[in-house]
Amino acid sequence: MSDQGKTMKNASAEPFSEEICDAVLALNREREARRGHSPRCFVLTFGCQQNVADSEKLLGMAMRMGYARAETPDKADLILVNTCAVREHAEDRALSIVGQYKHLKEKNPDLLIGVCGCMAAQQHRREQLKKSYPYVDFVMGTSVLHRLPELLLAALSTRKRTFCSDEENVIAEGVPIVRDSAYRAFVSIMYGCNNFCTYCIVPYVRGRERSRAPDEIEREVRQLVADGCKDITLLGQNVNSYGKGLSEKVDFADLLARLDKIEGDFRLRFMTSHPKDATRRLVDVMAGGRHIAHAFHLPLQSGSDAVLERMNRRYTTAKYLEILDYMREKMPDIAVTSDIIVGFPGESEADFEATLKMLSRARFDMIFSFIYSPRRGTPAAEMPDQIPREAQSARMGKLLSLQEEIAKEINLPLVGTVRRVLCDGASKTDAGMLSGRDEQNKLVFFADDGTSAGEWVNIKIDRAAPFALYGEKVR
Ligand code: SAH
Ligand code: SF4
Ligand code: F3S
Repeated sequence: MSDQGKTMKNASAEPFSEEICDAVLALNREREARRGHSPRCFVLTFGCQQNVADSEKLLGMAMRMGYARAETPDKADLILVNTCAVREHAEDRALSIVGQYKHLKEKNPDLLIGVCGCMAAQQHRREQLKKSYPYVDFVMGTSVLHRLPELLLAALSTRKRTFCSDEENVIAEGVPIVRDSAYRAFVSIMYGCNNFCTYCIVPYVRGRERSRAPDEIEREVRQLVADGCKDITLLGQNVNSYGKGLSEKVDFADLLARLDKIEGDFRLRFMTSHPKDATRRLVDVMAGGRHIAHAFHLPLQSGSDAVLERMNRRYTTAKYLEILDYMREKMPDIAVTSDIIVGFPGESEADFEATLKMLSRARFDMIFSFIYSPRRGTPAAEMPDQIPREAQSARMGKLLSLQEEIAKEINLPLVGTVRRVLCDGASKTDAGMLSGRDEQNKLVFFADDGTSAGEWVNIKIDRAAPFALYGEKVR
């Protein structure tokens, strides 16, 4: 194998190529005839739902090219590591796993290893993978995912390593998708982000915002519903700004209203929203919808206006509460969840107290909280007054215990109510129990009565914990 890395520049923005797929398929058929079984592919996913959705495309393409699915990496002839770069920890984990795959290559010299996703979209990481991970065969950024067939063809026929950088403004339609679940699905409606929150790497690794055509989205959602899918989440880094740059005049509220007209027994969700772009009209469409779940993920990040400004979030806490209050007025049963960053550079005790105060006022059903992690190339990484780790951890502890109290108070009155739950099968933690999600996306546990994953059940709640509800099936 050549150690001479190749950096692809000015790669063409051609659509997904069936022809190249067929060429790889032919090579794989030859291998299959030689070895008596088809080559297998293992996809490992880090990061957010966007990456989960991308991994379903990676697997879809691999299977289109004759790979079977490998359950474990040691059984694979192709390993794709779909990485995340949002915090340092995510990158460290991905690199450490890639390191562990070295010995698999020693056992199976035919094995190909590809690294893709957000970490792979950074120049310095590509260099690092090229230099220090010689057993990695190809690296590709997020926007060129649909070119996997090309990279595989190169790797299989010449065994040359390829380092493929991103392209702006690329959307590939027609990429095959193999979804993990038959009844829950993610549908990407847009890619990239234009917001440049000062802590965040996403705009650098996923490029500028670009929306899929509404017809394509509607076609995909209709097909999913026809195939029996019951819970569909529309994905984008900021779905509230959907539609910009499209020839058709359409915004997110329009898209949602359009998809809500589809007949069938399914729930429609979306994530993530940005408070600066969440509109009353969107809330009205949700409130008047038939399929749109009363659940809203609206990242706050901080309860201090000074910190929000330095984060470049472009809203104030007052503005945030305005849209939040409107949501609750129109949909009293809505569940609102949020993201909070603790220990952003310059966050004073008073700033942090303001976040706690905001939590008490906003009363989220759940929060995802993160200790600030400096990301190379982002403005916040260069800001003065980085907060020491101990102070960050102490604040995180306080935040979590306050949130636990709040969540407990919110869930307690749900005892005695009947929730319509989409069953996900056996609970991972409690033997003899099943779990599922209700409309508000709350986790619900109930006794195993043979209900299958993907079935709707009505559960009467008899116990409420901060992070889950427990109950029994009723007719
Ligand atoms: N586009 C979405 C999600 C972005 S990443 C949004 O705008 O909400 C998901 C969450 O990770 C963010 O909401 C933020 O809370 C957190 N996050 C992003 N960058 C981070 C960083 N450098 N350190 C810690 N948390 C971060
Ligand atoms: Fe990151 Fe902000 Fe874009 Fe979300 S909106 S992906 S936090 S830059
Ligand atoms: Fe991570 Fe990329 Fe998502 S950085 S959080 S996988 S958009």
